[in-house]
Amino acid sequence: MAIRRLPETLVNQIAAGEVVERPAAAVKELVENALDAGAGRIDVVLAEGGRTLISVTDDGCGMGPDELVLAVERHATSKLPDDDLTHIATLGFRGEALPSIGAVSRLALTSRPRDGAEAWTLSVEGGRLDGPRPAAHPPGTRVEVRDLFYATPARLKFLKAPRTEQGHVVDVLHRLAMAHPEVAFSLNDGTRDVFRLAASAGDLFEARLDRLAAIMGREFGDNAVAVQAEREGLLLSGHIGLPTLNRANAQKQFLFVNGRPVRDKLFFGAVRGAYRDFLAADRHPYVALFLDVPPETVDVNVHPAKTEVRFRDAGLVRGLIVGAIRHALADAGHRASTTVAQAALGAARPGGAARRLGRPLRRRRRPRHAGARPRPGRAQPGLPRALDGIGRPPGGPGAGARNPRRGGPGPRLSPGGGPGPGARHLHRRPDGAGNRHR
Ligand SMILES: Nc1ncnc2c1ncn2[C@@H]1O[C@H](COP(=O)(O)OP(=O)(O)OP(=O)(O)O)[C@@H](O)[C@H]1O
Ligand SMILES: [Mg+2]
Repeated sequence: MAIRRLPETLVNQIAAGEVVERPAAAVKELVENALDAGAGRIDVVLAEGGRTLISVTDDGCGMGPDELVLAVERHATSKLPDDDLTHIATLGFRGEALPSIGAVSRLALTSRPRDGAEAWTLSVEGGRLDGPRPAAHPPGTRVEVRDLFYATPARLKFLKAPRTEQGHVVDVLHRLAMAHPEVAFSLNDGTRDVFRLAASAGDLFEARLDRLAAIMGREFGDNAVAVQAEREGLLLSGHIGLPTLNRANAQKQFLFVNGRPVRDKLFFGAVRGAYRDFLAADRHPYVALFLDVPPETVDVNVHPAKTEVRFRDAGLVRGLIVGAIRHALADAGHRASTTVAQAALGAARPGGAARRLGRPLRRRRRPRHAGARPRPGRAQPGLPRALDGIGRPPGGPGAGARNPRRGGPGPRLSPGGGPGPGARHLHRRPDGAGNRHR
């Protein structure tokens, strides 16, 4: 058998097999490029869940005509200026996303450098270049991907219904948007806006919480505790939900390492460990943590889609996460019990706590007196005293109803299965912004 060098287009198609698994993966690469380009707003448009069109427009640094040509060339990148793989400060670094996408779709890039007078456009179809030629475009870049996988019919067959593919795109965009509250994002499905997120200004914690609440749900904003910890040069910050806000799966647990959304077993295990004393084994908390570490302590080059990382000292990271969460929960427990006591007093007066929560008393489905049966598996036998009573109606466990905003196995605001008046009040912002119950 003769060994031969494969043609460039085939090499790129093989790379695309790993990098561009589905439309959401292409969106992820394009939006990461926009973030690396310093964009302040990123607008994504899809048609048919991304199968026929993905368009990503940013107001970032843009590219001149020569850069456009290099951008679609394999292993050409502006992000490794020192050839140093141990100090990666950008989301991209391999120089293979655009050529891979260009090998399996009809790709068009239109761009104008921030201080440039002209815009240029370049297209790639089946790996063949056309352009660059002059175009009209404001500063920034628009990348359009049409007919994704038309050149690889086998992959095309694996695409799911447009709604499913769009769901994956929303997930990818949400994750990136959580890590970048300073950037405005929008997603349009060709006929309507799927979501719009304005850039959040001001203090990082506030901006983050606004963005997290917009994505994870207002109940997270109302029941979140800030986390901040540092150990040996590793910084951990973010927000975690009170144990009283929990759900049946771990899908609302997010970790970002140096601004990169990652899925990490170590993280999920650490969260489980940290909440062990506060939550039943089949319930999962809401968590969004941001870990900032020196680039040389983490290897980001371990996964084709760059969604996993490897820490040099995994034990240190785990200890930091568990310690920070436990600490934050212990603090919150103290505040919670105070608030619950106040809520209890309020509830004893006509038009008290329940009225303030915006729920008329008559909607209460179960009596408030003790003896209401706790739901199996929801009770919190091991709840430490500091947290005992968080979110429970003063009369006893299980007195409330499910969060009215969601059905099914959605969030619960009480270990006993019901939203407690206290938990809702816990973390109101003093300025009132973002408070739902006023
Ligand atoms: N939206 C954009 N704005 C400005 N420059 C861009 C944009 N998208 C791509 N580029 C330029 O094109 C180059 C190639 O992009 P590509 O995504 O293929 O590789 P990369 O981002 O360097 O690495 P990776 O393959 O890991 O994503 C980038 O290094 C960047 O210089
Ligand atoms: Mg890239």
